[in-house]
Amino acid sequence: MVRHKATQNRVTVSRNLKIKNHPDSGLSIRAPLAKDGKALYQMAKNAGGLDVNAEYAYLLLGAHFSNTCAVALEDEEILGFVSAYRLPDRPDTLFIWQVSIDPQHRKRGLAKTMIRDILNRDICQAVRHLQASITPSNTASQNLFASLARDLECQITKLPFFDATLFSESHEEEFLVHIGPFF
Ligand SMILES: CC(C)(COP(=O)(O)OP(=O)(O)OC[C@H]1O[C@@H](n2cnc3c(N)ncnc32)[C@H](O)[C@@H]1OP(=O)(O)O)[C@@H](O)C(=O)NCCC(=O)NCCS
Repeated sequence: MVRHKATQNRVTVSRNLKIKNHPDSGLSIRAPLAKDGKALYQMAKNAGGLDVNAEYAYLLLGAHFSNTCAVALEDEEILGFVSAYRLPDRPDTLFIWQVSIDPQHRKRGLAKTMIRDILNRDICQAVRHLQASITPSNTASQNLFASLARDLECQITKLPFFDATLFSESHEEEFLVHIGPFF
């Protein structure tokens, strides 16, 4: 019974996938491969506002975490990526680590579409919560997660996470957004 309800809701989530201002023809979303690591690293560097990880971390996304990550492509060119993983001690929670969209392709729904794509995968059948950490100045990111919470018709909660003093260099605090439970 519960499973049936979950499936119905996931169909609703899928049906809502819309890419704004896009003819849909050349756009695709898939899990990243290790060979995408170089492009993801460059994209993180060009994003502005992201903590850029070592290139090796972006290779690992394709090697170890591809089931819960996504890349959006148009005509074979990567336009954006989402890195995410299920919390090791709470597999019902998907933690969105980084989202980066090519500046020319923002506000087209790509970030939301990739996150929904991940949620609709078999690996996320048991996922009922989303989490992400956001800096207070990142309005775009805050709006992205507020919009997801609205689509999923569930609560969004802000909690303390990484205080600014935890970073070795000057850095805003990172607060945690928690969305759920959904389905
Ligand atoms: C944040 C970011 C990932 C959003 O990606 P995106 O593909 O443009 O987002 P979407 O088109 O899916 O939009 C999702 C929602 O956020 C809103 N939004 C997106 N960018 C926005 C902006 N710059 N200002 C205000 N709202 C914004 C959209 O209007 C949409 O809301 P709606 O559904 O109510 O219309 C993108 O701006 C980015 O790559 N920023 C730099 C890196 C970063 O800060 N990443 C997030 C932290 S990990």
